[in-house]
Amino acid sequence: MWNMLIVAMCLALLGCLQAQELQGHVSIILLGATGDLAKKYLWQGLFQLYLDEAGRGHSFSFHGAALTAPKQGQELMAKALESLSCPKDMAPSHCAEHKDQFLQLSQYRQLKTAEDYQALNKDIKAQLQHAGLREAGRIFYFSVPPFAYEDIARNINSSCRPGPGAWLRVVLEKPFGHDHFSAQQLATELGTFFQEEEMYRVDHYLGKQAVAQILPFRDQNRKALDGLWNRHHVERVEIIMKETVDAEGRTSFYEEYGVIRDVLQNHLTEVLTLVAMELPHNVSSAEAVLRHKLQVFQVLRGLQRGSAIVGQYQSYSEQVRRELQKPDSFHSLTPTFAAVLVHIDNLRWEGVPFILMSGKALDERVGYARILFKNQACCVQSEKHWAAAQSQCLPRQLVFHIGHGDLGSPAVLVSRNLFRPSLPSSWKEMEGPPGLRLFGSPLSDYYAYSPVQERDAHSVLLSHIFHGRKDFFITTENLLASWDFWTPLLESLAHKAPRLYPGGAENGRLLDFEFSSGRLFFSQQQPEQLVPGPGPAPMPSDFQVLRAKYRESPLVSAWSEELISKLANDIEATAVRAVRRFGQFHLALSGGSSPVALFQQLATAHYGFPWAHTHLWLVDERCVPLSDPESNFQGLQAHLLQHVRIPYYNIHPMPVHLQQRLCAEEDQGAQIYAREISALVANSSFDLVLLGMGADGHTASLFPQSPTGLDGEQLVVLTTSPSQPHRRMSLSLPLINRAKKVAVLVMGRMKREITTLVSRVGHEPKKWPISGVLPHSGQLVWYMDYDAFLG
Ligand code: BG6
Repeated sequence: MWNMLIVAMCLALLGCLQAQELQGHVSIILLGATGDLAKKYLWQGLFQLYLDEAGRGHSFSFHGAALTAPKQGQELMAKALESLSCPKDMAPSHCAEHKDQFLQLSQYRQLKTAEDYQALNKDIKAQLQHAGLREAGRIFYFSVPPFAYEDIARNINSSCRPGPGAWLRVVLEKPFGHDHFSAQQLATELGTFFQEEEMYRVDHYLGKQAVAQILPFRDQNRKALDGLWNRHHVERVEIIMKETVDAEGRTSFYEEYGVIRDVLQNHLTEVLTLVAMELPHNVSSAEAVLRHKLQVFQVLRGLQRGSAIVGQYQSYSEQVRRELQKPDSFHSLTPTFAAVLVHIDNLRWEGVPFILMSGKALDERVGYARILFKNQACCVQSEKHWAAAQSQCLPRQLVFHIGHGDLGSPAVLVSRNLFRPSLPSSWKEMEGPPGLRLFGSPLSDYYAYSPVQERDAHSVLLSHIFHGRKDFFITTENLLASWDFWTPLLESLAHKAPRLYPGGAENGRLLDFEFSSGRLFFSQQQPEQLVPGPGPAPMPSDFQVLRAKYRESPLVSAWSEELISKLANDIEATAVRAVRRFGQFHLALSGGSSPVALFQQLATAHYGFPWAHTHLWLVDERCVPLSDPESNFQGLQAHLLQHVRIPYYNIHPMPVHLQQRLCAEEDQGAQIYAREISALVANSSFDLVLLGMGADGHTASLFPQSPTGLDGEQLVVLTTSPSQPHRRMSLSLPLINRAKKVAVLVMGRMKREITTLVSRVGHEPKKWPISGVLPHSGQLVWYMDYDAFLG
């Protein structure tokens, strides 16, 4: 067999040598050579690579590998190779000749044990020596499930690395983890075997021609787009992947992942970064592209439960029960449809909604990124006088049409009233079927381009792997940044019952959704017959906002989103009243994660808020520099301050960082803050103090058994937290209790136990500092979500 391969290599080489100087030999090892992906895309992609590259000086050998024994494996691989096709413009005789050469260069081998890998290495070396070839590199394509990665990686690292001067590239297919933690684990594991530059993580969307065209298009049309690609001109961006297929046959995978992990975390996020990133000067610099993509993650606003809506096609649970042998009572909560509203907090995109949406069992298969521009033009003449398709009053949009849909192919569409785009010569102007309308306009309203030659994504990516173009792949940093962004949402949705939908055209308007104030919601109520039976979690609509008493004070309880909007409304009403009466409003805010949604709500949905007359104080602060992401002030800055117009002299961060040191007693930061409060806040009585409650009963930064702050004269104190960073500055209980109003916000299941406990205890601030909150002449109101209150 090896002799045949060497002869085939020499013959193929002869052709190369005539074409160009020899550049070295590349061995490509396809692991999982008889699997689905290999059959459908990878062998064809490798054949295409061979057709493109063999004439340019490289020689190749292709090793199909799997666990199957040699004889059976060979037969299976031969089947997978049967349907290879040549480009349309290649003469049949030429095609047959190339195919023949490719088949001779492709051999099956069993790769199961450490010895098998050693033998592979030996054979590659022997081949090279016999044919007198220099080794250029080796590509190992892992078309296998992730549980097999470690073994394979170890074997490659220990016995199949190429010799000095030759490169190693390992290609990995998703899933790359299930959440941030598992992705990190997998990355660390792979990192023990391979260098970062050796790993090529595939997201096949980056190989789709319309996606791969986003950056070159932005680059080639810089002049026209420079002024348009920003929040002043873009109304919204939609990144969509709709599918008609469902998950039948792969529920064992799907049940663990669901649509957000399967599609949004990777494919749609990649498209988002390409649209949103700052364009590097040189878009062919892989390093610059990767760096700029990564920067997008740093400015994505954190997602809340309300940022997403989820659905599940009706027969999904039944499919899971059947395929995974679950009992009849089993109801899955895995979403097969999701839409997510993403905001980017930078100067370019602030306020522009990015909508990511994908689903199975929908009415059509189509993928696109659509940038819809604002239209500020008013046309005075009647429509019949508008210049055909050019009027400034027609919709203005740019669409990277990834594939399928009514157009049936990848395309770039630019409204004719925007600008005439320039595309590379590999794209041509296209004509669609007459009468075709897309995104609300006839196709004739667009400059429309499609690739001269359509290419499958995997074949595009194989070529990039061969050329070492890392910018078409997912780096470890990029992967972890993406999981970092998605994991909190996934956790918050884990128990949310998705809306059921019948599937296909029958979905009607059931999945239509709207967005406002940073939240997404379905446009229509769910019809009765689709409300899930007993089992899945209750829906918010099953409850009214609960009003009751907690520790003898008023309690407002609702699902978290409703609760936050109620609290935000109450704060605004208090602020308006205070400004009307006293000319100013003194608000002291706690840090931590619970108030983030509140800050966002105040920042985005409260236009009547008297910010210009509001003074903002901190309830507590960690002893870290104010620029540190851990600082409470940073949270306030990121989620509220940078979005509202509040005079800088009304913002009062706690002075934890004086004389270049943190919370040193001798710097008297606590006393300075207390003096500032006494000087500016009448009677040191805040109009409103917002507190939280910790699982140990702490509030502000007043922890159980704290020697300071629970009583006494001091208004502001230094305290010690049991968790890091330990040193804190906090308003004292006596100061908090002088407030006109205190709101305590308690959210999440983790608070369930303490909520029950504190409901029963008396006034015992030493044990439970929260029990010492009772304003002398003001009002205390508890705001608890159902998770914290009802469990
Ligand atoms: C895959 C997902 O990554 O992408 C599938 O796992 C999905 O669930 C597929 O169907 C869609 O890819 P394409 O190329 O058909 O748009």
